[in-house]
Amino acid sequence: MCGIVAAVADRNIVSVLLEGLRRLEYRGYDSAGLALIDKTGMKRLRSVGRVAELAAQAEASHVDGKTGIAHTRWATHGAPNERNAHPHVSGGLAIVHNGIIENHEALRARLKDEKFEFTSDTDTEVVAHLIVSELKKTADLFVATRAAIAQLQGAYALAVLRESEPGHVIVAREGSPLLIGLSTEGNYAASDASALLPVTRRIIYLENGDCAELTRVGYRITRVDGTPVERPESETHLSADSIELAQYRHYMQKEIFEQPTALSNTLEMIGAVRSVHPGFFGAHCEDNLKDLRQVLIIACGTSYHAGLVARYWLEALAGVPCNVEAASEYRYRESVADPRTLVITLSQSGETADTLAALRHAKSSGMQRTLCICNVPESSLVRENDLRFITRAGPEIGVASTKAFTTQLAALYLLTLVIAKLRGRLSDVTMTAELERLRHLPMAVSRVLELEPRIQEWAERFAMKQNALFLGRGRHYPIALEGALKLKEITYIHAEAYPAGELKHGPLALVDKNMPVIAVAPNDALLEKLKSNLQEVRARGGELYVFADADSEIAATDGVHLVRLPEHYGQLSALLHVVPLQLLAYHVALVRGTDVDKPRNLAKSVTVE
Ligand code: M6R
Repeated sequence: MCGIVAAVADRNIVSVLLEGLRRLEYRGYDSAGLALIDKTGMKRLRSVGRVAELAAQAEASHVDGKTGIAHTRWATHGAPNERNAHPHVSGGLAIVHNGIIENHEALRARLKDEKFEFTSDTDTEVVAHLIVSELKKTADLFVATRAAIAQLQGAYALAVLRESEPGHVIVAREGSPLLIGLSTEGNYAASDASALLPVTRRIIYLENGDCAELTRVGYRITRVDGTPVERPESETHLSADSIELAQYRHYMQKEIFEQPTALSNTLEMIGAVRSVHPGFFGAHCEDNLKDLRQVLIIACGTSYHAGLVARYWLEALAGVPCNVEAASEYRYRESVADPRTLVITLSQSGETADTLAALRHAKSSGMQRTLCICNVPESSLVRENDLRFITRAGPEIGVASTKAFTTQLAALYLLTLVIAKLRGRLSDVTMTAELERLRHLPMAVSRVLELEPRIQEWAERFAMKQNALFLGRGRHYPIALEGALKLKEITYIHAEAYPAGELKHGPLALVDKNMPVIAVAPNDALLEKLKSNLQEVRARGGELYVFADADSEIAATDGVHLVRLPEHYGQLSALLHVVPLQLLAYHVALVRGTDVDKPRNLAKSVTVE
């Protein structure tokens, strides 16, 4: 969601800015822009649509400069059009911003009184004018920017340049991600490290409340009040290839097929062990789990669905009560806090604003035992948790989350085993069998991926539909939810998921010959119950698409289409059954010709509320 790149170097930085924006495209955006200082002054280019269009403008106008800032915008305040695209300018100054300024209306009114004229509907333009207003009191851009941001309420990552000061860029962050990249040719800033990989791997992660001044030869970091601070430099381990498409057509396709590798990387620590260990989740994990009374899982979207699956495991295998909450709801709910709760936040990005706020809410209400399961080691969420487990899915670029989900599930299953063991609920024999099953998991997922051609055959038929129903029972109900989310997210087909037993309590009214019903039907204890529910669908003329296990007694008949998964995988079957649903959504999207990796209106990393 919104991406920032800034550069001040000894070379023309146009290609650095544009390549950086291209690498941030996965975050989701609807317009793009850049500002730079060339020999004749400040130049600004903006376009609605893709970074490629901005690049074409840059080429046509032959812009060339050594100091610049660039931005991809995901509209929050004001429509996605050129006048609202960043950078915003005021009095020889340009700014790009990610986040939301909550007090923008009060500031706008004050600035209008000061005779500033507004040319956009954005909250960002308020910040541009505010800095110019502060520049009336000081000639120092760094001081003026800090004085302006001290007046802001809300979340921001921002970068500022000034026509009269080539060779300087000011950056700051509060709530939204921003890092500095260092090199001998110049210094840079970006929303994430992938944007800077072509120019540097040397990274400094800014903390909330940090501001920095970048020049060609150095940088200094202070707090908003001007107190100098030092932040450690680290080397990013992101591999340049990990964000290349290679032989795949889309990132989502690549990421679906990377799941076996992502799972073996995530589960690497169980390689040769004979038992699980609390230390997998952090040095003090055991102390936090000892007298545990309950687990609270908080997350959004796909990560929330992973939490819903884990509830079945934690209660059935570890015998610990578990609640799962949507972060956007939990953060505002007056709930009853038990200090002996393990609060688990789940997030691919680690930058989801609602999840971060919900974690802070949980802590402030007295729950201090917090663990995050996250795919981005340098993210805000990881830094705010004592206990953490980093899934090793590798960068996930497609907006529709796939490999992050299955690796979250793998981590949650490991945690279930850890808690079950501490509570004396796992014999050595069972532990050995569970570990064997986890070790075999990547292979089991590979075998499910081989079903792709069968699922492709279904996609043509689905592409014509306007609606779809997904059904599942038990721990496969959240898998049905995830299948429906994938389908609606990237194909724009309206899809809903229900626990199959709920069908007759309402949704059955929707079923007729035009309603495809997708059933997640593993060969578990609930299969017979599910089969009765499927009969209810057939009796109303509904067309069934069933994902069953090899040994389930379900037959393909008229109106019942069947794909069999190679094996039944017990408690971990949810990880297998989600894969064909990901593939189904992907292939339906291909037929419908939607933008698979960047579906309309969505962003990869939802850093605003
Ligand atoms: O980065 P997070 O896991 O915190 O993101 C949460 C949701 O925004 C995310 O899972 C979203 O639902 C995905 N686009 C689903 O595919």
